Formats: sequence, structure tokens, C-alpha cells
Amino acid sequence: METPLTPEHVLIIDDEENMRHVLSVILKNAGYRVDAASDGLEGIQKCNATDYDFILCDIKMPQMDGMSFLKAISDKIGQTTVIMMSAYGTLDTAISAMKLGAYDYISKPFHADEILLALKKAGERENLRRENRQLKSAVSAIEANYRFGNLVAKSKSMENVFLLAAKLSRLTTTVLIYGESGTGKDLVAKGIHFNGNRSRKPFVPVNCGGIPENLLESELFGYKKGAFTGADKDKNGLFKEADGGTIFLDEIGELPLSLQVKLLRVLQDREIRPIGDARVQKVDIRVIAATSRNLEEEVARRTFREDLFYRLNVMAIKLPPLRERVEDIPVLTRLFIRKYNKEIGRQIQGVSPPAMAVLLAHGWPGNVRELENVIERAVVLSETPMILLENLPDSLSNTARPPIPGLFHGFSLKEAQKITEKQLIEKALAATAGNRTKAARMLEISHPSLLSKIKTYHIDK
Ligand SMILES: Nc1ncnc2c1ncn2[C@@H]1O[C@H](COP(=O)(O)OP(=O)(O)OP(=O)(O)O)[C@@H](O)[C@H]1O
Ligand SMILES: [Mg+2]
Repeated sequence: METPLTPEHVLIIDDEENMRHVLSVILKNAGYRVDAASDGLEGIQKCNATDYDFILCDIKMPQMDGMSFLKAISDKIGQTTVIMMSAYGTLDTAISAMKLGAYDYISKPFHADEILLALKKAGERENLRRENRQLKSAVSAIEANYRFGNLVAKSKSMENVFLLAAKLSRLTTTVLIYGESGTGKDLVAKGIHFNGNRSRKPFVPVNCGGIPENLLESELFGYKKGAFTGADKDKNGLFKEADGGTIFLDEIGELPLSLQVKLLRVLQDREIRPIGDARVQKVDIRVIAATSRNLEEEVARRTFREDLFYRLNVMAIKLPPLRERVEDIPVLTRLFIRKYNKEIGRQIQGVSPPAMAVLLAHGWPGNVRELENVIERAVVLSETPMILLENLPDSLSNTARPPIPGLFHGFSLKEAQKITEKQLIEKALAATAGNRTKAARMLEISHPSLLSKIKTYHIDK
């Protein structure tokens, strides 16, 4: 155990001058730095001025006694170790003092060795606590994650996304967010809006794929009274509602060609014309669009206008699929466990190593959204403080990514089958922490058959 570089600092609180003097001499000789106070009040003043490692406190004192002192410094008890000194008849009080957070008590009269021993014991505890704190802060430094808005990540690729998004949030440039379904496009768009100087103005999301084509125009641009049957009063469109703020055009690839032209005009002139209105209105909007499609391909197929594509693609953010940033899985998992612990009122601590192995190996076609659903389900199902393999859907272990190609040369199907079998068995064993019964179940083979294969392939698990 490491000894502290500076001598430990002790405060003696006792109303008897002789006691203060004797204790000071003993402790100074043992290498402590010593201060003394003659009652609780003076003790408090000293505590406020100095952080003591230990406090030796008498129980019976005029003015403010030991118990009142202890109550008064309760907020410091985490950082300092208090030992009560109980004279004859105050033993019960000493025990109550321990309930209030005092670490120990010694009975008066005591021998010099006794007090030194008590301090030594307390010092060891103090060192342990210090080490614990250091370990904790080291762990949280290792665990330090990247954050942007409500997103967390650990991977370099997402760090780059966050850096770019943070930069863009300070500008009004049009942003196009690419990413498969469930990769966090909504969250990035919101993050950009709410981190920027438009954050107090509206953020208006529009799902371009979710509104029927004939309604989409009036939704976006609004209309004048009488523009069509049923238009019995003027109505503002979503562009107008987003004035001063941000409009988020989600699934922009779904925007019908007729509206693509109209959107292009909005982007060029920052003007909108409600249906049935002869005049245009100026709007001050920031446009963020998102798509899970490959817009360049759509442009090549002429289903997406090239000019609009270039207008939107001024700054592009590409969200990598989860399978390409496996490092993010543990931090996301922790985040979702915390979220659903709160929501469902559970106290799940984490994920067992075999279950984590399965989470890491899965291909996540539904990306972060799929992971979130899996964790929510597991938090509900789990009967232990840890999420276990059996709390994960069976489908997960079966849809793991295919083994890395290139391990096999030649044409023999038999040979290829053996290699695949061996890999899958090893993976199943890793995922179940060597539990052969569970591994056999995952592999959909019998237990004896698994044992025989383990032997054949010399798998030593
Ligand atoms: N990095 C992340 N950190 C925390 N939560 C995330 C992260 N990425 C995604 N999520 C969560 O995953 C879910 C899906 O995210 P989001 O809705 O932003 O994805 P999307 O790309 O817009 O999907 P879609 O294309 O289906 O609309 C949400 O519940 C979101 O909170
Ligand atoms: Mg979305």
C-alpha cells in the first residue's frame, strides 16, 4: 500500500487541555501533523478551514458536544475519518456516533499504542478508499465516451461524425444525413438544431415518405382559403412553422419529383408560395435532410433530381452502420440498460460475457434501434442483475456475421464445411462461456454430437 507523501493531518477535539497536550505529543512523535480544538464549535471552524484526514473527538464537552459536532460536519464525513473518544458512561453515545458516520471509538483512558493502532486501522481504510476512488476515476476515464446531443459512441468513425455535426450546428448550411435505418439520423438532426443558435426556434420534422403525395404539398407550403374544396381558412405550411428554426426533411429520397422542383426553389430563394396564393413569402429556415437510400443512385436512375441533390448535399454526414462500429455496442448497451432500468424500474447492472459476445457478433441489420429493442426486452425479461444469454432473442445468435472469408483456399466443399463447422463451434462456445449444453442448442446439434466434433477438431475449451 502506498504511503501518502504528506504526513496525515489529525484534529483533536477535547475540552481537557491535558488530554489535548498528551495526544498531540503522541501523534506528533508518530509522524502526524496535529491541530487541536477545545470544543465542537472550534472544531467546526477548524474543519471549515482545513481538510483533515482524521478527527479524534471527545464526546462530553461544554458548549458543543461530540454528537452535535458530528451532526454539524456530516457533509465532510465522506472525506475525513472520525474516531470518537468515549469516557466512562458514554459508550452508548459512542455507538450512536458510529451510526452517524463515525468510523470507530476508543474508550478513555487509553494507552498511547491503542490510539496509534486505531489511527493506523483507520488509515488503511482511508488508503483503500483513496485507491478505490482512483480506480473509479481511472475506469471512468477509460470509459469516456464521445457525446453529441443524445448520441453516445466510442468509435473513431462516430467521433468524426460528432465533430463534424458540432461544427455544422454553428452554421446554417444545408446538411444531408446518410445512414441505414436506425443509425441515429433523427438524433443527429436534432443535435445539430439544438446545439446551434436556432435552438430556441422550432425544429420541425417532416416524414417525406409518410405523407400521401397529394397532401404533402399543402402540408409543406400551406394554402389560402378557398384554394381547394375544404380549404375553409388560410393555413400555414410546415416551412412557415419552421421559420427562424430548422426543418428536418426525413426520407428525402421519397419526395415525389413534382415536389422536388418546389423544394429546390425554397432552397434557392428561401421563399414559399402557399397553394392558391399569388404572392410568395420569405422564410428563414435551415434545412436538414436525411435519407437511408443511396441518392446518387437515385440521381443516376433519374428518380431524384440532380440539381436538388447538389443543393442538399452541400455538407454530408454519413452514419456508419452499427456492424462497422462494434466498439459502440458496449457503450450503447450501457446507455439503454440505464434508460430502461429507469423506465421499467429495474436495477440491471450489465451484460454477462457470453451475452455480450452474442451482441458483439450480431450483424444488426436494424442498427442501433434494433439493439435498443433487444436491450429493452432483455431488461424486462432478466431475472438476475445481469442480462444473460437466455434473455436475448434466439435469432441473434443465429444471424451473426458470416466468418471472415479468405481463410480457405481450394475447392473442396468438405474442407470448407469442416472449417465453417469448427468456426461456428468455437464461436458458440465463446458465446456461452464454454457451456456445451447451451452451445449445442445454439448450433442445433445434439450434445453428444457436439462433444464428438470438439474432439475431432481439437477444440480445447
Ligand atoms: N449513437 C446513439 N446513441 C444513443 N442512442 C442512439 C444512437 N443512435 C441511435 N440511437 C437510438 O436508436 C434509435 C434509432 O435512432 P434514429 O431514430 O435517430 O435513427 P434513424 O437513422 O433516424 O432511423 P430511421 O431511418 O429508421 O428513421 C432511437 O431510439 C435513438 O434514440
Ligand atoms: Mg429517422
